[in-house]
Amino acid sequence: MPSYAIVGASRGIGLEFVKQLSADPKNVVFGLVRNPAGSTKLTEIKAPNVHVVKADITDRKSLDAAAAEVAKVTGGSLDVLVNNAALLPEGRTQRSLGGYGPDEQETLAEDLREAFNVNVVGVVHSINAFLPLLKKGSLKKVITLSTGTADVDFTLKVNFPITAPYSISKAALNMVVAKYAVEYKNEGIAFLAISPGLVNTSEKPPSPEELEVFKALIATFQKDYPHWNGPITPEESVKLMLKVINGFTIEQTGAFVSHYGNKQWL
Ligand SMILES: NC(=O)c1ccc[n+]([C@@H]2O[C@H](COP(=O)([O-])OP(=O)(O)OC[C@H]3O[C@@H](n4cnc5c(N)ncnc54)[C@H](OP(=O)(O)O)[C@@H]3O)[C@@H](O)[C@H]2O)c1
Repeated sequence: MPSYAIVGASRGIGLEFVKQLSADPKNVVFGLVRNPAGSTKLTEIKAPNVHVVKADITDRKSLDAAAAEVAKVTGGSLDVLVNNAALLPEGRTQRSLGGYGPDEQETLAEDLREAFNVNVVGVVHSINAFLPLLKKGSLKKVITLSTGTADVDFTLKVNFPITAPYSISKAALNMVVAKYAVEYKNEGIAFLAISPGLVNTSEKPPSPEELEVFKALIATFQKDYPHWNGPITPEESVKLMLKVINGFTIEQTGAFVSHYGNKQWL
């Protein structure tokens, strides 16, 4: 019975991972969320192979408690950990580094620290909390959600200065994945950083300002990726990523790839 723990499963891509993985009754799927009572889209799945577990990735103790809960069900092991939880760009964190005015430099520092704390330190905590279980698992895979906007070549190609704190934290996260990969290759644990593509996970219609930013973003990307028709759905993204995840072996450990399994980010 392959076991999967999806961190940040209340909504968006994480929720979709739980849905698609639990559709196979052979899988045991753990959805880790900060607020189980408020994660109604997850709790209403009600499949016998889905377990809702409380954890906040900025709180190592809560991750240790979550790992203990998972171990109780699986007998001490975990096959695949999916690090999906993240602090996404929203409001002012969509800015470029130069977009913070002279009187906002401490705000910029705070945004950088906050993105780093959740997207880098939080993921390191998650991996460390689950490593003892992964060592006893049979598939031994750690999948970490990154983003094409953390790719230096992509950033330069499409001329993309915005979402700076987020992209910077995810670029650091790619190095986290590489560091774990080389450290644990001999133990057979494979680490992968994967971008889901640009995915529409918004739960409410965008404000007029957000819509303007979004339209400009699409126009920018389409200049270099004329085939690209705009954001994909969580269903499409997770389907593509699962194909990459299933085919990924220890030989590729440490890689940073797109939902197509290569460097095509859109
Ligand atoms: N959507 C895209 O276009 C896109 C593109 C590139 C990369 N990605 C990456 O794909 C992943 C999922 O993105 P998404 O669009 O599905 O995001 P989303 O809809 O904003 O969902 C984020 C998830 O992370 C959880 N989370 C946030 N902080 C957490 C914490 N401290 N502890 C535990 N859980 C926490 C949220 O839980 P709450 O409900 O409790 O807030 C939520 O379940 C992220 O890693 C993101 O960087 C997304």
